[in-house]
Amino acid sequence: MIRIAQPQIGEEEIEAVARVLRSGILSHGPVVEEFEERFAEYVGVDYAVATTNGTSALFLMLKAAGIGPGDEVITTPFTFIATSNAVLYTGARPVFVDIDPRTFNIDPQRVLEAITPRTRAILAVHLYGHPADMRALREIAEDHKLLLFEDAAQAHGATAWGRKAGSLGDAAAFSFYATKNMTTGEGGMVTTNDRSLAERAKLLRLHGQAGKYNHVELGYNLLMTSIQAAIGLVQLSKLDRMNEVRRRNASILSRELGGLEGIVTPVEEPWAVHVYHQYVIRVTDRRGRDSLASYLNERGVETAVHYPRALPDQPVYKRMGLDCVDGCPEARRAAREVLSLPVHPGVSPGQAEYIAGVVKAWLGEA
Ligand SMILES: Cc1ncc(COP(=O)(O)O)c(C=O)c1O
Repeated sequence: MIRIAQPQIGEEEIEAVARVLRSGILSHGPVVEEFEERFAEYVGVDYAVATTNGTSALFLMLKAAGIGPGDEVITTPFTFIATSNAVLYTGARPVFVDIDPRTFNIDPQRVLEAITPRTRAILAVHLYGHPADMRALREIAEDHKLLLFEDAAQAHGATAWGRKAGSLGDAAAFSFYATKNMTTGEGGMVTTNDRSLAERAKLLRLHGQAGKYNHVELGYNLLMTSIQAAIGLVQLSKLDRMNEVRRRNASILSRELGGLEGIVTPVEEPWAVHVYHQYVIRVTDRRGRDSLASYLNERGVETAVHYPRALPDQPVYKRMGLDCVDGCPEARRAAREVLSLPVHPGVSPGQAEYIAGVVKAWLGEA
């Protein structure tokens, strides 16, 4: 079976973890600080704050920026639920607006139309590894004095106009979950150029502690372990190479499948570098996405659906009355049509060609 995801862990990661275990410093320590420094350098920002996972990185970022009850945060309904859950944890309300059907990312025009006196921020997601249109969003944020955040959980190494995801807004949150472009098992990072935001994130990350056992605020425990950071340092050094393999696999699939009737292959804007956390096609053939998914599965190719529902259609959000302000027809259509094909660095060129061949065979049977 060609799996939809496969962490790339080698002897180097194992050695790095063993060194930490032997050192006796397992929790927060110099290895975490080194990971933060290297990650900030890679992204091109002044500060990086490591956390337990991507969800806590999102929460810490929003909370450190002062987002809270009474605030509205405009975001996308077509993402993993962690994005908007983090907004809810702060006491603020996520306001969902529709996506651009070409890139699956938040549509800046819809953002503009959803601004109210309570709007404090825009939270863009670089879905599947393709950056959101941060230029248009930056302009809106500046005109309306809003904060602009990135959910870069799927976009390690992606660029927009030559700048890395994670350096395109006021602050960003990354995830290092096992399926991501780089992993620490579980793990997360906040990146920013805003010194006070970074300092506040660090304060909140450890029980509001300003000095040893001097607690000045109600904080949390969201520290990354040295074990995670040791894996992260090795993974970071391999990230560009791993992303190159993802891009090579994506280019094989797009070369073979581009322009065929019944499916739509992903776009890469001329100003963007897509890192293909997921390679996502739309299945427009009348037999439907699930039919192609079963066909692939029977032939040894695992697929996935990211995501089968627009977030307002999740039972928990329905109960909370969180609908899209514009009805989000594009997000709802995407939820019915998208299918992710394997492109992770463990997929060989021959396997990518095989996957494309199976999709073509299915299309040929139409
Ligand atoms: C877009 C997006 N945001 C947030 C998260 C949350 O990250 P984590 O699972 O590390 O909490 C993920 C990944 O799971 C994600 O894909």
